Amino acid sequence: MVWKIDDMIAVLSVEDKVKLVVGVGRAKEVPGAAGETRSVKDVKPISLTDGPSGVRIEGSGDLWYYATAFPAPIMLASTWNPEVVEEVGKAMGEEAKYYNISVLLAPGLNIHRHPLCGRNFEYFSEDPLLSGVMAATFVRGVQSTGVAATLKHFVANEQEVNRRIVDTIVSEKALREIYLKAFEIAIKEGDPWAIMCSYNKLNGVYTCQSEWLLTQVLRNEWGFKGLVMTDWGAGDNPVEQIKAGTDLIMPGNDDIVKWVIEAVNRGALPIHYLDRAVKKVLELIERTATARESRREIDWKKHSEVAYRAAVEGVVLLKNNGILPLKPGTRVAVFGTGQVETLKSGMGSGHNHPRYVVTILEGLKKSEVIVDEELSSRYENYVLSKRGKDKLDKLYRDEILLEHIPQDIVSEEDVAKYAERNDVALIVITRISGEGWDRKSVKGDFYLTDDEQKLIDIVSKYFHSKEKKVIVILNIAGPVEIVSWRDKVDAILVIWLPGQEAGKVVADILLGRVSPSGKLPITFPKDWKDVPVAKSSECYPGIPQDNPRFVVYCEDIYVGYRYYDTFGIEPAYEFGYGLSYTKFEYRDIKVEKTGTSVKVSLDVINVGAYPGKEVVQIYIKAPKGRIPKPFQELKGFKKTKLLKPGEKERIEITIPIRELASFDPDRKLWVVEPGEYQVRVGTSSRDIRLIASFTISEEHVFAP
Ligand code: BGC
Repeated sequence: MVWKIDDMIAVLSVEDKVKLVVGVGRAKEVPGAAGETRSVKDVKPISLTDGPSGVRIEGSGDLWYYATAFPAPIMLASTWNPEVVEEVGKAMGEEAKYYNISVLLAPGLNIHRHPLCGRNFEYFSEDPLLSGVMAATFVRGVQSTGVAATLKHFVANEQEVNRRIVDTIVSEKALREIYLKAFEIAIKEGDPWAIMCSYNKLNGVYTCQSEWLLTQVLRNEWGFKGLVMTDWGAGDNPVEQIKAGTDLIMPGNDDIVKWVIEAVNRGALPIHYLDRAVKKVLELIERTATARESRREIDWKKHSEVAYRAAVEGVVLLKNNGILPLKPGTRVAVFGTGQVETLKSGMGSGHNHPRYVVTILEGLKKSEVIVDEELSSRYENYVLSKRGKDKLDKLYRDEILLEHIPQDIVSEEDVAKYAERNDVALIVITRISGEGWDRKSVKGDFYLTDDEQKLIDIVSKYFHSKEKKVIVILNIAGPVEIVSWRDKVDAILVIWLPGQEAGKVVADILLGRVSPSGKLPITFPKDWKDVPVAKSSECYPGIPQDNPRFVVYCEDIYVGYRYYDTFGIEPAYEFGYGLSYTKFEYRDIKVEKTGTSVKVSLDVINVGAYPGKEVVQIYIKAPKGRIPKPFQELKGFKKTKLLKPGEKERIEITIPIRELASFDPDRKLWVVEPGEYQVRVGTSSRDIRLIASFTISEEHVFAP
């Protein structure tokens, strides 16, 4: 780079400056990338692209930008392992750099408020701490390569229906404690170089046009030093956006350039606002200079291993009646089209184009189980006849919404035959979702279809009659209803959207090459009527309505487990839940309080028969005080190393006193109320193994 920021600003005309802060529209430098800045004087354009599950550049003709498909963020969160998430971020940064991309439009860290938001798979969790920590480490990984990471979508963009106009009505308390909190943690711990304001309005104002959000909270209170860009086409007034604190309008077009120049000339946009934005754009270009240095070859094999490691740690075992792990040589009958059209990711900008996807069937065939090939080839032929070969070949290169096709293509007599000649049955159930639409609380989406239920019924009936067991694999973008069928099967594995190594991950988990260590980053409700957003429908005109103008966050701070725990509602599987093939014991808890923090330490011992990793979760139950609080909140977590049978690890988790605070909307302060705080150490939010306490003797207050 030959220029210096201040010297450059001094020589730029108003038109030059405006061109720098408004993207070019269709990307030319890297055709198919999501966006690009403009070339102005000696300032060269930089390219930006998605996304959270892998680098996404849309090729055409013979030009394909293959990139590794990593597990979706919902699965990264299920690992509860920041180290693997950092590795994924680094690998994605390297691939972005390889394609001359300077800014990666990830991670997404909106909150899973609504279990059926179409983009939940692109977001981490219903909990702000887990989301924020995962995002921070992802950012550190990406930025270690010189590529900028972008936190998105700031903020309160928890539904897709009408996302460009919907007005999210939410209290300042819920915003601060839940929705902003995830971003605050990611910014303070990850130092991202960019953030993307969202499409929606927040309490009446488009987020990209909210000075309160972008200047007061983000920059003044949190000290964010990076660049703010709009989501693609967000908001309705670029001048208001720049005034509010937006620095880069994306994807941009010439009409917006004219609009902003005219506003400057007319005095409607004082030049200092424009200069502020220009400076941020130039800083971002300067910060990412190394991303545009000579192209370094990618070790694709190594990246596929990163994708595999992250996915295998994110598999969640919900149920196991002793059937898993399988022994080598087990004869397996695989039912369901998902064995062939395995979903690697969701749809929309959170999708990408890997060179291959190992389907569940391919993964199993290469493993030490013996697949009933005749049965699987029936599913293969069925899928081919229903979808067509072209569509299937393109499945992993294009995003295709696959309509549900009946799964019960086998007759009862056939199932009886398969039960006779195999040792175990595997049923694959899939659910996809994507940008621009939300899932629905109906059969075929949240609920299983009749044909899926029937398949479970007949397979269970005939396999159980032969004393053989049935395993269900959920290849899903978000929660489904499980209670109505879970007693009919023996084991349930959630593999989410596991990326390109899907089949290998499934085979290794089934065979116990790796013991499952994923934990749910969300609650699986028993039924739709139990979900907080369904309950608050009287004051909630949002989804599932088709054309909502508002969405009211009536449940306030009681999001996810905060709701189920506070109001005594039993979920199907709670936040933080996940089984292992081995067993862990928790011992010798010690709590040490200083003036600024609380240190919790304890031993975790593997008392089972397999090597495994455990996720230690610390929930704090605050004393009853003046400010409303949920029953308990996650305040720390740590995944152990791989513990061999009999091995022990001492875990230490430090919680800053500040993180115990609740937001007091009357005083506009964070307040830690005095009293006895309970430290609840669990292997899930409801399986609490150790309890201790500490006392806060006087009130602590913190400015936001
Ligand atoms: C999405 C963003 C994405 C952008 C560019 C928008 O529609 O909401 O998440 O980064 O497109 O592809």
